[in-house]
Amino acid sequence: MGVVSRVSGPVVIAEGLEGAKMFDVVRVGELGLVGEIIRLVGETATVQVYEDTTGVRPGDKVDNTGQALSVELGPGLLTSIYDGVQRPLDVLKKNLGDFITRGFVAPPLDEKKVWEFTATAKAGGEVAPGAILGTVQETPLIAHRIMVPPNLRGTLTDLKSGAYTIRDPIGTLTTPSGKVPLFLSQKWVVRVPRPVQQKLAPGIPLITGQRVVDTFYPVAKGGTACIPGPFGSGKTVTQQQLAKWSDADVVVYVGCGERGNEMTEVLATFPHLQDPKSGRPLMERTILIANTSNMPVAAREASVYTGITIAEYYRDMGYDVALMADSTSRWAEAMREISGRLEEMPGEEGYPAYLGRRIAEFYERAGRVVTVSPEGRTGSVTVVGAVSPPGGDFSEPVSQNTLRVARVFWALDASLASRRHFPSINWLQSYSLYVGDIEPWYRQELSKEWVGLRQKALEILQKESELQEIVQLVGVDALPEREKGILDVARMLREDYLQQSAYDDVDTYTSIKKQYRMLKAILEFGDKEQEAIGRGTSLAEIQKLPVRQKISRGKWIPEKELDTQFDAIELEMSQSIAALGGA
Ligand SMILES: Nc1ncnc2c1ncn2[C@@H]1O[C@H](COP(=O)(O)OP(=O)(O)O)[C@@H](O)[C@H]1O
Ligand SMILES: [Mg+2]
Repeated sequence: MGVVSRVSGPVVIAEGLEGAKMFDVVRVGELGLVGEIIRLVGETATVQVYEDTTGVRPGDKVDNTGQALSVELGPGLLTSIYDGVQRPLDVLKKNLGDFITRGFVAPPLDEKKVWEFTATAKAGGEVAPGAILGTVQETPLIAHRIMVPPNLRGTLTDLKSGAYTIRDPIGTLTTPSGKVPLFLSQKWVVRVPRPVQQKLAPGIPLITGQRVVDTFYPVAKGGTACIPGPFGSGKTVTQQQLAKWSDADVVVYVGCGERGNEMTEVLATFPHLQDPKSGRPLMERTILIANTSNMPVAAREASVYTGITIAEYYRDMGYDVALMADSTSRWAEAMREISGRLEEMPGEEGYPAYLGRRIAEFYERAGRVVTVSPEGRTGSVTVVGAVSPPGGDFSEPVSQNTLRVARVFWALDASLASRRHFPSINWLQSYSLYVGDIEPWYRQELSKEWVGLRQKALEILQKESELQEIVQLVGVDALPEREKGILDVARMLREDYLQQSAYDDVDTYTSIKKQYRMLKAILEFGDKEQEAIGRGTSLAEIQKLPVRQKISRGKWIPEKELDTQFDAIELEMSQSIAALGGA
């Protein structure tokens, strides 16, 4: 047992912790506050404490649990709301009201709940790490595959289907070093990535139903994306749209409350969100990790690791998982505060010198992988991190370090938000390094034309921004008719395609097929417009055509009527533009 020698906010120095290891979890003081060893010199341990340390004094005892900070992984994770160290918030609330009593350790998974386990592995056989033992229908949406832990192999001496709690043994594994009971749950140390057999190249897009994302700046399954943007520019709404609509099986949402009430908002909205595909509560395939601003910073520091470890666990089952972190700037600030308490040599803007490395290590845990499993299951973790640079200045350290590692950049633009262009993702500044990787997928699954259409649309938008500079000098009337025509299509692209309301029942999600039809209609209209102008027709006349209105309202065409309505639009477009006379 050790003793406290010094206390500085969330950081406690303990002496005399014999045999302690880095990342061991300790209990501090009479209350047994939960902490983690983050620096160790001889027997002097620096501990970050996940609870308010008020009242802890030099001389108080420190007990080492001897175990590294871990999460418990098993049925019951889905629908849970946790703090940064996997303490269930609803249980905390139920037991203790809104005041979280310090030193209270609630089990992360319900220990009394009985699950129906269906064994699929045969007793008597050899099982390798990651082998599936059987399944538990965790929620109506997700079958939880019970796996042999990644570090175990042996002979399955017994395994039975039946009704179990997570504390009941479901079978026995005989390993070279003895018999090991198997359970529905397993533990994993949060700061160590769960192993994989192989990382796969990105090649499949995460379809989000958000046009600016899927069409222009797509993220691959297993990829990384960041959304830096100033306050109020749409980071949270974008992340929630992805949580709701993307074709990931499981969503892990790590919220680091930006404003006082923001996390409360998330906690209030998420439980009511509906999974659009099944109509069931979205929480049935979601895990929420919530850091409210009154929670200790150390828990916030740990929360991204807790989140990504849970994400890797569902990946290992063979699922596509999406992890949203909103916002990673609050995580970085927690690192900065703790580093300051440790009196480490500060790097840029007071952040620790290892900020860049930590950010990189976090994003590197994303990936589409061949899991550790005998049959080579594949699964993925896609990571989307919001960044909130103070004053919207992307040159600050958290934005810069994130941009270095994330392969998609959705640049939120305050001026677009103030003009109520949503999602206010700037179409000229953003980029995706996955476009080339997933091009073959689009060609095969959607259309051979797709990549060309995308390219053409971007060129028109680029051209628009050049023309706008001229217009500012000489006025739009000075432009030749052809260039006015380009401004016209560009406007359609911005207003009728890029703008997409998260709050409109139809517009909130656009299938990839519908994106294709919409984009094609707008660009074809632009081509025909140019041809007509070439024949001497005035732009004003073309703009008056009713079919232009119909294309503009294309976003509200229901998915079911997609082909019939767009076929009709295309026909009308050809006929009505061809019918226009010349000058
Ligand atoms: N896709 C969208 N559709 C409609 N409104 C949006 C969209 N994105 C953002 N908004 C509007 O902008 C406001 C601020 O967005 P929010 O995501 O909370 O910003 P941030 O998290 O960057 O501070 C929202 O409350 C909403 O009114
Ligand atoms: Mg926000």
